[in-house]
Amino acid sequence: MRFTPQFLDELRARLSVSEVVGKRVKLKKAGREWKGLSPFQQEKTPSFYVNDQKGFYHDFSSGKHGDIIDFMMETDGLPFAEAVERLANMAGLPLPAVTPDAARHEQRRKSLHDVMELAAKFFAETLASRVGAKARGYLADRAISPATQLQFRLGYAPPPPDRFALKEHLGKLGVSVEDMIETGLLVAGNDIPVPYDRFRDRVMFPITDLRGRVIAFGGRALEKDVPAKYLNSPETPLFHKGDNLYNHATARKATHDGAALIVVEGYVDVIAMVTAGFAGAVAPLGTALTESQLALLWKMADEPILCFDGDKAGQKAAYRAADLALPFLAPGKSLRFALLPEGQDPDDLVRSGGRGAVEEVIAAARPLADVIWSRELEAGSFVTPERRAALEARINELSNGIRDEVVRRYYRQDLAQRLQRTFAPEGGGRGGFAGRGNFRSQPGRTFQPRGGVGPNRFAAPGRRGGPIPTSLPSGPYQAASPQLAASPIMRGQRSAISRREALILQSLINHPWLLHDHLEEVAALELAHPEAHKLRAGIIAAFANDHHHSPDPTEQAEKMRADLDRGGFSPLLQRVERAITTQAVFGAREGAARDDVLATWNQLVALHRQWHSLLRELKDAELALGEDPSEANLAWLRDVKARMAEVDGTEALIEGFGELSGRFQKSV
Ligand code: UTP
Ligand code: MN
Repeated sequence: MRFTPQFLDELRARLSVSEVVGKRVKLKKAGREWKGLSPFQQEKTPSFYVNDQKGFYHDFSSGKHGDIIDFMMETDGLPFAEAVERLANMAGLPLPAVTPDAARHEQRRKSLHDVMELAAKFFAETLASRVGAKARGYLADRAISPATQLQFRLGYAPPPPDRFALKEHLGKLGVSVEDMIETGLLVAGNDIPVPYDRFRDRVMFPITDLRGRVIAFGGRALEKDVPAKYLNSPETPLFHKGDNLYNHATARKATHDGAALIVVEGYVDVIAMVTAGFAGAVAPLGTALTESQLALLWKMADEPILCFDGDKAGQKAAYRAADLALPFLAPGKSLRFALLPEGQDPDDLVRSGGRGAVEEVIAAARPLADVIWSRELEAGSFVTPERRAALEARINELSNGIRDEVVRRYYRQDLAQRLQRTFAPEGGGRGGFAGRGNFRSQPGRTFQPRGGVGPNRFAAPGRRGGPIPTSLPSGPYQAASPQLAASPIMRGQRSAISRREALILQSLINHPWLLHDHLEEVAALELAHPEAHKLRAGIIAAFANDHHHSPDPTEQAEKMRADLDRGGFSPLLQRVERAITTQAVFGAREGAARDDVLATWNQLVALHRQWHSLLRELKDAELALGEDPSEANLAWLRDVKARMAEVDGTEALIEGFGELSGRFQKSV
């Protein structure tokens, strides 16, 4: 990141929003604004507005709002820096020169990228040449067509006795030995007098970064008796294997365009999946999935599907990934697990069953909670009360590891229910449960317990439709107890709830019907304040308890307040109302018209989301500055803060938006 606020302002000044947006959306002049059909949501009547004077767009159908940079990020799925670079190109604005130090650094990386590019070309040419015949035969045997070889830029590193083919080739092109060593293309060291080619007699898989630049290679041995089946580039200034994914760039575009994100174990698996029509396939790079790769996956999709090999190692990898993900689960963010038929990897499956077989496996992917649960059950037998108690303790420990409070609560509930169902004295095997007691439940096949011993005896298949134990909680929601509401954590809270969070909660209390259509959205909102969290839980519980919704919104609101009062939420409620210090926002007030309430709601939620994504960027920027205290990183931090101030400003104007939306409502 190397953009000063001045540069970004210059960019925003040079390009009008309508010009940038106009490349995607057909805009019509409407008074001082432009309007058109929302690029974010299907609609027949235009509700997407662009205001060139103010420099932003606002989409009333999705609640999205932003400037030209946001627009590029939203519509093309680009990260901030790339969006800025593209806009700078469009504006004919040269990218800013950075500090001499940073410039040298950048120059160096650039030349290393060039070296990698030259190496990729060399390997590809070698594959196409006479020495490449054996490798071409190998790829043909593996059903990787010449077109696919080109698509993935596959290559071949020449066979022994040659140990210097690449080194000599690059040398002739003027690349220094130092650069070849730094990019990991040569093996060098104190005890190695003459550095030599790292990759020999291997099929080469170039690994690219998000911009499609080659940063590393994976090399597949052709011969059986070599020490490593796959040899990968070492860690270099360009390549940190735990921070990259094979096929990342292509998959990002594909998932942005709607493809499922599927994580497989190997390079060849990715290629097979893409060839079979699953363009959103990626793989980690010769390691177990890392935390940072998980973060990359969650940037592309809410629920990536892990599709690991159908063997012991694959199952182990799946469990490891589950443990890795658990602490980081957030509302909406999870993993799904597709396990392949015994002994097969995705490449085998594509070859034996084609697209259909893969689709079946993907459709049968199981949620994370399922996988965690069945792993614990498979770990032993639970015939004694003591062992069951140990299982319960273990399960509590697992859910306690989840950092997000809301997700943690739902996990506790889910796992507690599974425990209860499994060990309930009579008729505990609730229909359908048995089939979920084992990780390996195959699509279209009835569940067969593996080995017939162990946990499955508690989930006897065939005992379908037994009565649900009376002790089962009747619904998924549980109101927070009065003790909790009055606890010191709640009372001792010093910092105030933000006005926006307070307004969101107030809208829900005054207009419980919002929960009808927006329950998921409400549950997923990231609330910064612990009290806001608690009150939301109370509101959701009250809503769930109100089984006979009155048709009268005022009555609904009264019921909600009464229920919250009974739950001990009154002091909290008062705090929330006190947090709204400015004059009341019309759309959040009691008795406001439905349309106004909805418009205000959409604006509030959109702003809230924007704010939280900025908060995340702020964290990234601070981290970057901590690692590298450069001018560029400082400028980034300042820019994030400037944008946060902007959102704050927009928020203060929220009544103004109410009017704007009111006008829009009348015009349709
Ligand atoms: P697999 O052993 O499952 O390989 O390793 P595969 O993809 O099925 O390989 P083929 O089909 O025999 O060619 C999966 C991934 O683990 C890494 C590679 O990234 C590979 O794609 N790996 C495997 C290594 O890095 N080194 C090895 O020696 C083996
Ligand atoms: Mn394989």
